[in-house]
Amino acid sequence: MEKRKWPDSFDFQGFNEPIGEEWSATDLPVEGEIPAGIEGAFFRALADPAFPPIVEKDTYLSGDGMVARFLIRGGKVDFALKYVDTKRHQAEAAAGRALFGAYHNPYTDDPTVKGVDRTTANTTPIWHAGRLMLSKEDGHSYEVNPHTLETIGSFTYDGELRTLTTSAHPRFDPATGEMFIHGYEAAGPATCDVALCVVDKGGKLVSEEWFQAPYCAMLHDFVLTQNWAVFPVFPTIADLDRMKAGGPAWVHHQDVPSWVGIMPRYGKGSEIQWLKGPNGLSGYHMMNGYEEEVDGTTLLHIDQNVMETNIFPFIRDASGIDASPADIRAALVRWTIDLNDLDAGWTEKPLGPPGDMSRTAMKDQGRPYEIGYYACYDPKVGPPLIHSVVGAGFNTLIRINVQTGELAALALGPDRSINEPVHIASPDPQHEGWLAAVVDTHSTMSSELWIVEAGHPARGAVAKVRLPRRLRPQIHGTWVSLAEFENSVRK
Ligand SMILES: [Fe+2]
Repeated sequence: MEKRKWPDSFDFQGFNEPIGEEWSATDLPVEGEIPAGIEGAFFRALADPAFPPIVEKDTYLSGDGMVARFLIRGGKVDFALKYVDTKRHQAEAAAGRALFGAYHNPYTDDPTVKGVDRTTANTTPIWHAGRLMLSKEDGHSYEVNPHTLETIGSFTYDGELRTLTTSAHPRFDPATGEMFIHGYEAAGPATCDVALCVVDKGGKLVSEEWFQAPYCAMLHDFVLTQNWAVFPVFPTIADLDRMKAGGPAWVHHQDVPSWVGIMPRYGKGSEIQWLKGPNGLSGYHMMNGYEEEVDGTTLLHIDQNVMETNIFPFIRDASGIDASPADIRAALVRWTIDLNDLDAGWTEKPLGPPGDMSRTAMKDQGRPYEIGYYACYDPKVGPPLIHSVVGAGFNTLIRINVQTGELAALALGPDRSINEPVHIASPDPQHEGWLAAVVDTHSTMSSELWIVEAGHPARGAVAKVRLPRRLRPQIHGTWVSLAEFENSVRK
């Protein structure tokens, strides 16, 4: 069957041009030296459509999930890339063409796949209790064998999950080994039901609490602190009637308030309390959050990138919002809630320049911390280059001390885009560790894995691993130590 050409949009051009090939390579060439403390696997999720879409317009986010793995041992680096063999991928492969329709809208699918699990599992590789799971927020995760990258199947905790979805952004308590994972549209498309699941360190689902969000928001991420689960809700909203009519699932509403829901992390869904905030805001990823005792009260801090409107062009188009990414006001900010005065809402304090894909060391999650890392687009470094879902790649890697405001940046120059960094802990507790990220060079259409000293990003890469082929941009990644990798449940 002749391939239909890809839609004429940035989602399918430049670095976003689909590749759709599974491959692997061993002992990749390294410029510099891999630090001896780095041993483990860097798993990455990316979206890459196997077939041109059946809808006229589509987004990068619709692409079939692929799982990539850099395996670093003894200073050597191996690489492998494979499709997540979802029910959706299987159905389309059997038909030899795309069957699923518009992003997040099952009512636009070919009738032959009605009721088939339509998640692409393309967003985050989750590692917990010795298992690797590839996740997206519109279904259950798929378990993947971390050694072979073969797909095992949909992961539902032995059928115990009631929620129809689990998100791509679980939160972990590094002290207890627990994973907290939420699912929105828990009862089906456009429902306001949200689930919060607690999974113990052995991988057992121990609770699942439901609550109602103020509206059906694209509830992508949340924050976990020592006592609280915190849910920022922004007005990018699904509507069932619009979806059934074949329209876009997600529309951003500038005239609808944002909210924050706070719930005791081991509490009941009925205990959630809602704080109302400004209209029209948007945000996707939270860097971290923690509680602080000050003057006899408890403050809850949430650090995240907040924008004045939705950053995704396909959502702005659907919403009639005319703004280019470069013109959208945004910043890394701290929202602070006084737990003794919830009626006061929250206050906002700027922390750093706008960006996204923020990370911290795992040991810092949910507790007082100093250092965060994220990617940003700095127009002074170079013009926007086509890369990933926003259409303008990140060209700068930032380290921020959120307590002092101190910033350090690695500017990649006008020809490069950086994917989300992952933090690699050092065996030396006095050492801040490293950041690993794939850096894409546009003039040569080539990809490299860069290793950077986390404490000194401006010094540049201490090692660059050259790949023989270009990679499609990553969504999220996760680092797994060699000991965890070798002790995996699946062998
Ligand atoms: Fe995300």
